[in-house]
Amino acid sequence: MKKILFACSEAHPLIKTGGLADVAGSLPRALAKLSQEIRIVLPNYQSLNKTEDVHFISTVRVDNQDANILETVLPNSNVKVWLVDCPTLFGTPGNPYLDESGNPWENIAYRFALFCRVVVEIAMNRAHLTWQPDVIHCNDWQTGLVPALLSIESNSPSTVFTIHNMAYQGMFPESTFSDIHLPPQLWNPNGVEFHNMLSFIKGGLSYSNRITTVSPTYALEIQLPEFGYGLEGLLSHKYSILSGIINGMDLNQWNPAEDKSISEPYDINTLEKKVINKTSLQARSSLPVNKSVPLFGLISRLVEQKGIDLLLDCLDEMVNMPLQLVLLGSGDKSVEQKLLEYARLYPKKISVTIGYDEALAHQIEAGVDIFLMPSRFEPCGLNQMYSQRYGTIPIVRETGGLADTIEDALPKSLSNNTATGISFKEANYGALLEAIKRAMLLYNDKKTWKKIQVSAMKKDFSWENSAKQYLALYEEI
Ligand code: ADP
Ligand code: GLC
Repeated sequence: MKKILFACSEAHPLIKTGGLADVAGSLPRALAKLSQEIRIVLPNYQSLNKTEDVHFISTVRVDNQDANILETVLPNSNVKVWLVDCPTLFGTPGNPYLDESGNPWENIAYRFALFCRVVVEIAMNRAHLTWQPDVIHCNDWQTGLVPALLSIESNSPSTVFTIHNMAYQGMFPESTFSDIHLPPQLWNPNGVEFHNMLSFIKGGLSYSNRITTVSPTYALEIQLPEFGYGLEGLLSHKYSILSGIINGMDLNQWNPAEDKSISEPYDINTLEKKVINKTSLQARSSLPVNKSVPLFGLISRLVEQKGIDLLLDCLDEMVNMPLQLVLLGSGDKSVEQKLLEYARLYPKKISVTIGYDEALAHQIEAGVDIFLMPSRFEPCGLNQMYSQRYGTIPIVRETGGLADTIEDALPKSLSNNTATGISFKEANYGALLEAIKRAMLLYNDKKTWKKIQVSAMKKDFSWENSAKQYLALYEEI
């Protein structure tokens, strides 16, 4: 049995802006099921959705500031969550990264540096909790200073650093390094310095005992300039401690047979009921209710990573095809505007909801026939897994975790019943459009379509296997 401290900046259902929260809300549960003693640590943001008892357990002083540690649990589990409570930093409205007006927190470096310092105190058993972890599992740049700060302690626990996205590195001007009072010995090119900037993610990459990322394909891709954002050299130098472990999904939360947010639950044996979710979604989205027209869906942060520009380039042609489209997302304001404009011009074809809406996300997964994920890069991606579980066929670009979790519907995979989706290679609109046309042809062949749906729904995306791989890593170090 290992004692594991899982440090992250978001965890579902307490707080979520993207897939990291899904992982942080489900991997620790899977590790607890494997009889590991695991605690999650995260900042006590004002906007946390606290449904369970929360109580004070300790106070620590770091960088001349007091921080309280509060304890709660992940709902429906016995996984303890420690909340780093520092009202002057985390007690204001906004999300983990943006203030109420949608601008990045001005003091974001200081916020996460303080969080990391408290994690270090817990790691070193100096937080009066009488509990010392064997392993600290850090996630993304917000926790990158933990391995860095632990490197100057003696007898510190081992560290694993998981990269969920290389595009976010926590880079700040050199002056921030002294503003946030980091120890001078960390400032060097083998430390947190990156071309005269302070890089939080480098703290994780330079000083951790193991580096992982969330799919085997992305683990290879980030060693190339196209995906490494300048850190490909460091990552390929570290290849012997770098590996890819594919994310699992929360099978309880995303289960079409028991999903409380959808109109009509269904499973692999009652797949004919899926269409009830389609017609309710069409009605809810003010689209013509039509069982047979192929309904496409997308749920996404609207950022460059997700290839929304490729989809935008296809829309002029798509509106002339016999299909409908339901889109949910938020992010880049100009993309939001363009999508809304298409919805205004083609209300019978396209429905767009700008914002974050979890219930609608479930209704889209259940209601649409085809899910679009044309990502330019995708470390893992979760929606393509949710889609497969809901018998919704994903169209994905063959990159990162999308390449690792979809079996393209080609003659061979169709004949041996392994096809679960449609994938395309090049990041251009022609390739996406061709994939869309391919999906529509397959959709019109009802027997084949059902075969793909059944293979997709049968796929095992549970966490168990991946949790065991993490455990093996913890044991190694
Ligand atoms: P990323 O973390 O890069 O955004 P993932 O595919 O790993 O991508 O995870 C995204 C998660 O966030 C999924 O659970 C998805 O359903 C959810 N999500 C994204 N945008 C929205 C939205 N606008 N409303 C509801 N859920 C959303
Ligand atoms: C990141 C990635 C996404 C991944 C998620 C969880 O947000 O963009 O691909 O699924 O982290 O690991």
